[in-house]
Amino acid sequence: MLVIRDLTKKYGSFVAVNHINMHVRKGEIFGFVGPNGAGKTTTMRICCGLLKATAGKVYIDGTDAFRARQAVKSKIGYVPDFFGVYDNLKVIEYMQFFGSMYGMSPQQVAELSQGLLKLVNLAGWEEALVDRLSRGMKQRLCMARALIHNPQLLILDEPNSGLDPRARFEMKEIIKNLSSMGKTIVISSHILPELAEMCTSIGIMERGRMIVSGKVDDIMKQSQFTQPIRIKMTAGSSEVKEQAVRLIRENPLSEKVTFTEEEIFVIFRGGDNEAAYLLRQLVQNDLPVAGFYREKGDLESLFMKIITPSGRPRQ
Ligand SMILES: Nc1ncnc2c1ncn2[C@@H]1O[C@H](COP(=O)(O)OP(=O)(O)O)[C@@H](O)[C@H]1O
Ligand SMILES: [Mg+2]
Repeated sequence: MLVIRDLTKKYGSFVAVNHINMHVRKGEIFGFVGPNGAGKTTTMRICCGLLKATAGKVYIDGTDAFRARQAVKSKIGYVPDFFGVYDNLKVIEYMQFFGSMYGMSPQQVAELSQGLLKLVNLAGWEEALVDRLSRGMKQRLCMARALIHNPQLLILDEPNSGLDPRARFEMKEIIKNLSSMGKTIVISSHILPELAEMCTSIGIMERGRMIVSGKVDDIMKQSQFTQPIRIKMTAGSSEVKEQAVRLIRENPLSEKVTFTEEEIFVIFRGGDNEAAYLLRQLVQNDLPVAGFYREKGDLESLFMKIITPSGRPRQ
């Protein structure tokens, strides 16, 4: 649905986006994560045709986004990170304004708005003044208007920033709902845990570069390799434990072996099959293994490992 190839954006001599590649398949919820200043907004704005790329390509549903700008715009709904000020505009007038930009008649917009406002939990707010809405409601209104032309791809730039937990929860439910309706969603955040749970894929960006990108499950598997295996032995002589440690160290996939009174920790560069082999070796050597398990990696610790300290996200 969205393919980014070797995309670069310079502001003068400053490289904000540095040869990034990204692939978002139809129906995915793609989490675009990175600390402030990573280049997320710049990338999103380029995809929407609001900013010119310095080099590289963007394809939306197979169409070259830089060549067929209009065709591409009809496929994208964009919710920017900054909500403008709309003095004295009612919710329904706001919808009318954006609907008219897509050549819709007031009746058409009125009919569509009913469903869309309901979808974003704003049914009954048609006559309210936009400026009086809470931040969360404004964000949701912005989503409703981004959906007015029924786009296949939704690009949401930090839709959760500045929202309270209740409003975040609502936003998450709406996004899941839109996903189940078949929309492809790209959503950015500088806070990973916010996205980890609902995304099917993520891309982690830092200082203009895409550091990791892919399916959450695959990235988790990779990160698992850096998680230690913990081995518990039944209480016994230290000789037995030393024998076990020696055996583990002999395995070429064991990177670092440490132990305490109760447990042995192994940084192990193998997957499940290799771990099973290690366990079998211990047991076959009559070593009294009482527990053997690998700690689960989580995306957040992976994120913290990947990004450099100076690029840590601000909370
Ligand atoms: N119009 C601009 N002119 C110069 N530098 C810019 C401009 N817009 C963004 N930048 C810089 O580009 C980098 C990436 O910004 P941005 O895409 O907004 O990152 P993010 O959305 O990940 O926080 C930042 O260092 C920012 O200061
Ligand atoms: Mg941004």
